[in-house]
Amino acid sequence: MITASNDYPKEIVLMASNEETDHILGFESSTDIKKLIKQAKEVLDKNWTGKFTKPTSGLYPHQWSWDSCFIAIGYAHYNQERAEKELRHLFSGQWNNGMVPQIVFNSDDEDTDYFPGTDFWQTSCSPNAPGEPDTSGICQPPVHATALLLLLENAKDAEKAERLARELFPKIKAWHDYLYRERDPLNEDLVYVRHPWESGQDNSPVWDQVLKRMDLEEQDKPDYERTDTKHVDTAVRPTDFSYDRYIYLVNYFRDRNYDENEIYRDGCPFLVQDILFNSLLCRANRDLARIAGWLGKDALPFHERALKTAKAVNNKLWDEEDGIYISYDLRADQHISGHSLAGFLPLYAHIPSPSRARRLFDYLDTGSFCELDESCFAIPTYDRRREEYTPKKYWRGPIWINLNWLLYHGLTNYGRQRYQHYIKQSIIYLINMSGFYEYYSPENGDGYGSKDFSWSAALFLDIIGLKRIELKDEM
Ligand code: DGY
Repeated sequence: MITASNDYPKEIVLMASNEETDHILGFESSTDIKKLIKQAKEVLDKNWTGKFTKPTSGLYPHQWSWDSCFIAIGYAHYNQERAEKELRHLFSGQWNNGMVPQIVFNSDDEDTDYFPGTDFWQTSCSPNAPGEPDTSGICQPPVHATALLLLLENAKDAEKAERLARELFPKIKAWHDYLYRERDPLNEDLVYVRHPWESGQDNSPVWDQVLKRMDLEEQDKPDYERTDTKHVDTAVRPTDFSYDRYIYLVNYFRDRNYDENEIYRDGCPFLVQDILFNSLLCRANRDLARIAGWLGKDALPFHERALKTAKAVNNKLWDEEDGIYISYDLRADQHISGHSLAGFLPLYAHIPSPSRARRLFDYLDTGSFCELDESCFAIPTYDRRREEYTPKKYWRGPIWINLNWLLYHGLTNYGRQRYQHYIKQSIIYLINMSGFYEYYSPENGDGYGSKDFSWSAALFLDIIGLKRIELKDEM
């Protein structure tokens, strides 16, 4: 951990003080930022396949749903064509029932060793799967409307962007309809995820209690070979115990032809109303309402959905004792006690009241996450004072750029500019120091997981406001 803010390199401190008075000047006058911009674009070029962008080579060689949304948000600043292709390609994998799949497989690259691949998912057993392209049979957090709105706002060619919005609007609506229709069996305005991978925070300690309850008999243990640990250090990846359960769940869905009713009715062991997924859905409804307004369509149904989900999050997922939002384990009918950064992200959807936001902030601004004066390396994913916290392990503590980006924007809604500004500077500092990694240790800022990770690069370009910087340069 950095102990004092004057440990920051001089140019970063300079940028910070300029930023207090001028949002662009500090970056513009810094050659360092220019170098980082170039490097970020190089990362995206390297992972661009001509149709979509891989999260990274090796470990994640296909198209991932929420990754592509974050990636499109970055492209929107300087390469509208790619941003549009990225989203179009993702939606080419949308299922007939509206589900946007977690993975759209890369049919141009048969050589990848990614597991579980198409042979394992066998999604063609579902009448809802598109057939072409091949996809996985689960989904990921709904940030699609958000990505489309940002594309509309940042695109150079407004007409083209509007054409894309007209094309994607009904598809995103169908996606949200699917979630409310098939993932909210109790009509609570909260949707469930049925696999840790659907939450996007695959290996979070939050899932431990659910996975531990899945007591697999010897004959239930799936027969498979992991490939993730061939690409990155085994020590930072999920354990075999967790992986057995991830794969067991895939088998469980496939055995039921990915039929949602059957999956729910048969008692799928992992059914969670996840706080991040529902907060992002709430925000996505608000963003879809704005897109509807933009296109001259009726925005009211989306506002209504956002309000209902916000109310449900406040009623069911708030932990009054600890002052943070938490997820709900539907199978065990109980809350999940783990405290992750996701518990603050209802801020991004403007869900908390001002008094709840104050309580959230009182918790966030402590050694559990990051005290403003402490100068951390951005905000860790998990409460550092809890015993499950592990600084280098995938989703069990490290800093992720996407969650920091969400928190950064969430704080705008609540007037926490100093903290917000601090997050932005920390991200720049971290990337300057370690490069565009998948995630970083909160203890020393070292990068872990995969190198040259696309969303770290794309969200960096967005958070620094690349479009404004480049527009100024052109003048
Ligand atoms: C994995 O770790 O392979 C999952 O697919 C991530 O979504």
